[in-house]
Amino acid sequence: MHPLLSFSVFWLLPLALMLEEDSPLNSVPRRFVPYHRDNARLFHAEGVSNYSTMLLREDLDLLVLGAREAVYALDLNDISKKRASVKWEATQQKKAECQNKGKDAEMDCKNYIRILHKMKDNRMYVCGTNAFDPECDYMSFAGGELTLQKKVEDGKGKCPFDPFQRYASIMVDDDLYSATSVNFLGSEPILMRSSKSSIRTEFKSSWLNEPNFVSMAQMPESDKSEKGDDDKVYLFFSETAVECDCYNKLVVSRVARVCKGDSGGLRTLQKKWTSFLKARLDCPVLESQLPYIIQDTYRWCDPKLHWKKCLFYAVFTPQSDTSDLSAVCVYRVSDISKVFAEGKYKTPVPVETSFVKWVMYSGEVPSPRPGACINDEARNASITTTLDLPDRTLQFIKDKPLMDQSILPIGQKPVLVRRGATFTHIIVNEVEAADGNKYHVMFVGTDNGTVLKAVNYDGEMFIIEEVQLFQPPQPIKILKFSNVTGQLYAGSDYGAAQIPLATCGRSSCCMDCVLARDPYCGWDKTVGKCVSLSDSQSELIQSVKDGNASLCPEADPIKPVNQSIGPGGDVKLSCLSPSNHAKTIWQRDDSGLIPSARFQHLGDGLLILNASFSDAGRYRCLSVERSKTDKYETTVAYYHVIVDAAAGKDGQVLYHAQTGGPSVAGLQAVVVLLVVCLLALAAWNFYKGHLPLPWKCGKNREQPQGMHDQEAVNTTVAYGDAQRTALAEDKPLVFTTHNNSNNNHAGEEGAVGASEENEAPKLSASLQFIDDESEI
Ligand SMILES: *[C@@H]1O[C@H](CO)[C@@H](O)[C@H](O)[C@H]1NC(C)=O
Ligand SMILES: *[C@@H]1O[C@H](CO)[C@@H](O)[C@H](O)[C@H]1NC(C)=O
Ligand SMILES: *[C@@H]1O[C@H](CO)[C@@H](O)[C@H](O)[C@H]1NC(C)=O
Ligand SMILES: *[C@@H]1O[C@H](CO)[C@@H](O)[C@H](O)[C@H]1NC(C)=O
Repeated sequence: MHPLLSFSVFWLLPLALMLEEDSPLNSVPRRFVPYHRDNARLFHAEGVSNYSTMLLREDLDLLVLGAREAVYALDLNDISKKRASVKWEATQQKKAECQNKGKDAEMDCKNYIRILHKMKDNRMYVCGTNAFDPECDYMSFAGGELTLQKKVEDGKGKCPFDPFQRYASIMVDDDLYSATSVNFLGSEPILMRSSKSSIRTEFKSSWLNEPNFVSMAQMPESDKSEKGDDDKVYLFFSETAVECDCYNKLVVSRVARVCKGDSGGLRTLQKKWTSFLKARLDCPVLESQLPYIIQDTYRWCDPKLHWKKCLFYAVFTPQSDTSDLSAVCVYRVSDISKVFAEGKYKTPVPVETSFVKWVMYSGEVPSPRPGACINDEARNASITTTLDLPDRTLQFIKDKPLMDQSILPIGQKPVLVRRGATFTHIIVNEVEAADGNKYHVMFVGTDNGTVLKAVNYDGEMFIIEEVQLFQPPQPIKILKFSNVTGQLYAGSDYGAAQIPLATCGRSSCCMDCVLARDPYCGWDKTVGKCVSLSDSQSELIQSVKDGNASLCPEADPIKPVNQSIGPGGDVKLSCLSPSNHAKTIWQRDDSGLIPSARFQHLGDGLLILNASFSDAGRYRCLSVERSKTDKYETTVAYYHVIVDAAAGKDGQVLYHAQTGGPSVAGLQAVVVLLVVCLLALAAWNFYKGHLPLPWKCGKNREQPQGMHDQEAVNTTVAYGDAQRTALAEDKPLVFTTHNNSNNNHAGEEGAVGASEENEAPKLSASLQFIDDESEI
């Protein structure tokens, strides 16, 4: 195909398709859960940082965690419990050498654990950067202790020298496959298999060109293969495109693969891969014409199905930092495998003197097919190992490891796009919802210490929640999932965190539970709680595809909170919606309240300025959330405003009273102050979790009830975790500063959403694609 044509087909066509739909490019999480120590179980060891390597040892009930100069064995069910640990520091001599070579003593010249894999004999293989001189060792867990066996092996080519350099590795049948740099400068990238006969890539820019390695996965492709195919190891990375005819460097995402049975060529490609093939991996995001860069992948396979049904979920971020979109694309393994097995190759053609152009190769392809694993066809021709491959095949693959065709995601567009904190890692879990369908729930780590939980419902991107695990925000450096414990494990520079797949208890009323559209959760009418599907025998109310909350029973009515205010005073009635997708509206005495100069709708409440006696009444804050089926209203807060001359101007009794000397107002002030302190104390206790929270949500319809209710203060100001902090920080329900719309996250998210349609970075001008003839 003509390169320009292929460019337009693979880039512009999907873009055009996406333009037609007005799918929101910027999905806002329905709920943001700010940091709270109960969000996750945490592990952190004093003085130790960089917890970025993990190995699940479900057989031992352990999470093995690699950090800087230490390895920990944590209880898999509760990682805050340390079972064992072992230190592994670089020697003084190594550190001195590292420093002499100009590296930073504190940052670089340490031993960062980078590789942790399980061996067949139950030991573990562990490698560290070892002050810029990587080493590996064997480690065992026995008698409650982690022990390094001190059988130190050279780590060059297995583990990076530089702790900041990206790498990937996987252990397959006790052979370590690693993708990293093999030298001190980090300039010689290789993909290597360490075994009795080690195999690696050629040092050629057409093989690997300034790559950033991302991840590896194996595929059991020999399983039920009609062609007698071999198992494969896939490598995901990004690199500078050799095939791009552009003025500027263009980075592209790639998938490469090698065959497990590869043992190199006899003369050509001796001890090198004969099966290294790579292809471009695209994730077309509407706004960008520069390809997005791959950052992580997750292999998702249904254990009951054939490997061809496996999927790769991959996280992408923009090439330039003018955009803050991140995306998730999903690829079928069968699509990838087909391009390698049947696709055309690219070939370099010299043009002019120093220039090489990469175009589709349309000449004769030697047999056996270059890059193919040894299969039945080869065996029929008496080629039983790669050592028997003819030179013609080997020379071909040595020169042309790049496939012509790019690999596109399912649906030719991302399943998730979000503006905001950059995506770093992904895990996918399949769950069967109450409707009997199975959904893939994505858990995406960000560089801001949060994990998003998102589902793509028939093309609709929906982010159920964003939970902050680390405070201050720390990039999520690793994400793992155990199907035995059903827990997620995240690592950052500061520590490790463990979270369950579902936290249904965050929804305290049916409406919120159903509109959250979390496939793990449903509303149990009999106990009146949002519960996990797997924990419940009863029939639950859930509607993940449509968010249909019409089956929800009437919620308990909310009692109004009394709010006194003096004539001419100002007051803020607080109201935080449980959902960032909802709008809040205010009603006064059951009819809509139109915002005006004196009644200002803030993101987190209503500000009444210069109150007059006619402002007295019942003020109700409603959260209005649209789903596919309907519009749902929930009462979030309810106030009975009393305008009372005795209350003093603007509820500012506390301050104004001082001028009046020891008066009734002064006494009132003391009482109010005491009450506020008490409330603050209570709020703090709730916040700290010492006392359970009696959150309630009410439907719109119920009628106001008893008004002299002091406790109502606790129960009205909404529900959800976001409100805990809100309560703690908003304790004086009365404000004077008019524009003090503080810390409302819903408001912030809304603002982000509002700016979504602006600046689409059009950087295409800096690029020039091949424009011509191309085929040979
Ligand atoms: C290790 O953690 C520290 C913070 O504790 C961070 O500044 C540094 O960049 C991390 N190093 C690597 C190699 O990630
Ligand atoms: C291999 O040879 C056998 C018998 O000679 C033949 O039946 C079979 O189709 C051949 N397989 C391939 C893949 O060429
Ligand atoms: C990162 O988290 C902090 C604190 O939670 C927040 O203020 C900030 O807006 C977040 N940044 C992005 C890009 O989301
Ligand atoms: C967990 O996943 C492994 C493969 O990763 C599989 O062999 C095992 O059966 C799964 N266990 C459960 C309980 O699903």
